[in-house]
Amino acid sequence: MSTVAPPSGEIPTADIEFASRDHISALQLERLRWSVRHAYENVAHYRQAFDAAGVHPSDLKDLADLAKFPFTGKTDLRANYPFGMFAVPRDQVSRIHASSGTTGQPTVVGYTAGDLNNWADLIARSLRAAGVRSGDIVHIAYGYGLFTGGLGAHYGAERLGCTVIPMSGGMTDRQVQLIDDFRPDAIMVTPSYMLTILDAMVRKGVDPAATSLRVGVFGAEPWTESMRSELEQTFALDAVDIYGLSEVIGPGVAMECAETKDGLHIWEDHFYPEIIDPETGQVLPDGAEGELVFTSLTKEALPVIRYRTRDLTRLLPGTARSMRRMQKITGRTDDMIILRGVNLFPTQIEEIILTVPALAPQFECVLDQPERMDRLTVRVESRADTTADERLSAAAALTQRIKQRIGVSVAVEVLLPDSLERSLGKARRLVDRRPK
Ligand code: DLL
Repeated sequence: MSTVAPPSGEIPTADIEFASRDHISALQLERLRWSVRHAYENVAHYRQAFDAAGVHPSDLKDLADLAKFPFTGKTDLRANYPFGMFAVPRDQVSRIHASSGTTGQPTVVGYTAGDLNNWADLIARSLRAAGVRSGDIVHIAYGYGLFTGGLGAHYGAERLGCTVIPMSGGMTDRQVQLIDDFRPDAIMVTPSYMLTILDAMVRKGVDPAATSLRVGVFGAEPWTESMRSELEQTFALDAVDIYGLSEVIGPGVAMECAETKDGLHIWEDHFYPEIIDPETGQVLPDGAEGELVFTSLTKEALPVIRYRTRDLTRLLPGTARSMRRMQKITGRTDDMIILRGVNLFPTQIEEIILTVPALAPQFECVLDQPERMDRLTVRVESRADTTADERLSAAAALTQRIKQRIGVSVAVEVLLPDSLERSLGKARRLVDRRPK
């Protein structure tokens, strides 16, 4: 069994963020060859899948050769539930996380001590990019437990030298009280739960713009540029995007830099990205939109080879760091609504809602099928203190703007504030009531 540590490269971690593209590519190739071999030699699933596709780790001579290898999906992790995808003996696994999964078995992921160490480094690196500094107080409102958000963020913030408040999600009034009392510099939370915290602040008479918070590290669900403006103005902070998924490591796969806020730098020394056409599986060039696929380069316990994330985005060149960026996620292939032949995502609806001043960013998209035709109803709350007339014209304005910008007719219901269920973690934007 080859459980040797992955190649470490010559450049110290902090400098790798600014390394030349040549250096990054050389390091990626070296690590990719290790990772693919490690998966093949230690995980029955990969050995069978590579053999069936007629490829062998020795076929990997340059980065583009990765396209010859088969994809991995959530179903492969489920089929090998719980520990069948691990590439190290169970007693070398220091931690387990799992993603809940609304249907069927949860997806189980594992970490060696080395993986946990890399993960903490990546979160520390991400927080530094967000503008958080050693000595800052960081309030973590991502859920702790099997979800990777809380504990992932926690060890990284400690690694950076921050004072960590392990608040987790929920107990919203308590969140407000501790933000008021402990005066954190930064908060790590889903953007939708930040809006729930906002409701509680308003109820308690706390001015959201006057808190100590300077930085918001928002992720775990899609959010838009309009939501960034909304959060930045309401809370008077810098709102930056953090991305990740359990199967690849958790949060800290990619991070937006505070100085540019122009998409998320993928930490390419640990994760190799590809964009594919979700229909054909063809690799697309940088700049083209498609499904994001990741291959882990250093993970020991759970190497993933060409893991299909179902997240849609495009790859862009580096700016504030030399590693490539991904554009903010448009949505997941599973969340795509196809309405009378037009594809749309809840993020597009969010963008448009926030152009109507009387509407609040609390909304859901409900799909049903009266008379066998698909219908989309956007249910959205109005802001506080709107009149009935203002709500009526807001509904008309939203219907018209959606028709104009997306090209489909939808029904709009403008609700009073506090009508929709609040998110404590990831918001559910799409409710599908169509008969199965
Ligand atoms: O959500 C990890 C995470 C925790 C990321 C905290 C950021 C902050 P999972 O529960 O496995 O892991 O869900 C992963 O969430 O495939 C995306 O669809 C979505 N997602 C995560 N971050 C973002 C983001 C965590 N910044 C799934 N923007 C991913 C859009 C995101 N979607």
